Amino acid sequence: MIVVTGGSGKVGRACVKDLMDHGYKVTSIDMAPPPGQSNPPKPGDVTYSRADVTDFGQAMAALSMIDERVEKVTGVVHLAAIAAPGQAPNHVIFEVNTVSTYNIFEAARQLGIRNVVWASSETVYGIPYPDGPAYVPVDEAIEHPETAYSLSKLMGEKMAEQFCRWDPKMKIVGLRFSNVQEPQDYAHFAGYDKDPESRKFNLWTYIDARDAAQAIRLSLEAKLKGAHVFGIANTDSVSKRDNDALLEKVFPKTKRKRAIKATESLISIDRAREVLGYKPKYDWRKKAKG
Ligand SMILES: NC(=O)c1ccc[n+]([C@@H]2O[C@H](COP(=O)([O-])OP(=O)(O)OC[C@H]3O[C@@H](n4cnc5c(N)ncnc54)[C@H](O)[C@@H]3O)[C@@H](O)[C@H]2O)c1
Repeated sequence: MIVVTGGSGKVGRACVKDLMDHGYKVTSIDMAPPPGQSNPPKPGDVTYSRADVTDFGQAMAALSMIDERVEKVTGVVHLAAIAAPGQAPNHVIFEVNTVSTYNIFEAARQLGIRNVVWASSETVYGIPYPDGPAYVPVDEAIEHPETAYSLSKLMGEKMAEQFCRWDPKMKIVGLRFSNVQEPQDYAHFAGYDKDPESRKFNLWTYIDARDAAQAIRLSLEAKLKGAHVFGIANTDSVSKRDNDALLEKVFPKTKRKRAIKATESLISIDRAREVLGYKPKYDWRKKAKG
């Protein structure tokens, strides 16, 4: 049984579906029920329990003792969070995200659940890049939080290292997702070319929720130990404009680590490709063409 926290959210819904489509039994833990779910659930609906994972008792119980759920939890996907800067006052975002991540890591450790995947964020690369990134493609070596939200995600990455030192058999994979998009969001993409500044905040990158779900599943299945971080984006950018032209105009001081292709992702996904076998399947251009 895989427990997914935040299973009612944007990434969570895609993750729950992907795991169930691949034969996993899944329980979703969230403060909000899955949208449209009836009571009792219909066949094929995810099992859902309400819990607030900022409360350690609820996090422990959610990973161990819910009467309806009889199977041992073998893996945890932790997505529950205040999911972007600005969605709450800074200190609330920092507290909710840092405490909930601690609680899930600690509950997993105490319960001997050694397979944990969680959502870090592209913001750790330096979003909204007030002076541009030092280099592109940005990669996992960069730790440059500019907001309380981003700092909470970097704290999660640092906590993961220490939890895996305490229990060397533990695996905690943090995925630095780009800005998550669902198919209906692609209707907006054509407009991004009009204003080169409109998506500079995240280097014109995106991640399809279904590819985010793929990365989560591959991370659960990866035979790794210890704490790992992977950048997760789609292979292309949101813009039809040439990357070099965009960078020259918007971030002239940013260096290139190598030659940059016209519309490739400026978030490196090389490590995820090599270690996880991550291969994004979705591409907004193909979707736009139908
Ligand atoms: N959406 C993005 O562009 C993006 C980008 C990078 C990283 N992330 C991260 O990915 C994860 C999922 O993001 P999302 O876009 O699906 O967010 P979302 O807001 O759509 O979903 C988050 C879910 O977590 C639940 N939740 C919040 N606090 C909770 C708590 N204390 N206990 C239980 N449930 C709680 C909410 O009810 C919600 O259903 C988050 O950790 C977010 O920080 C998102």
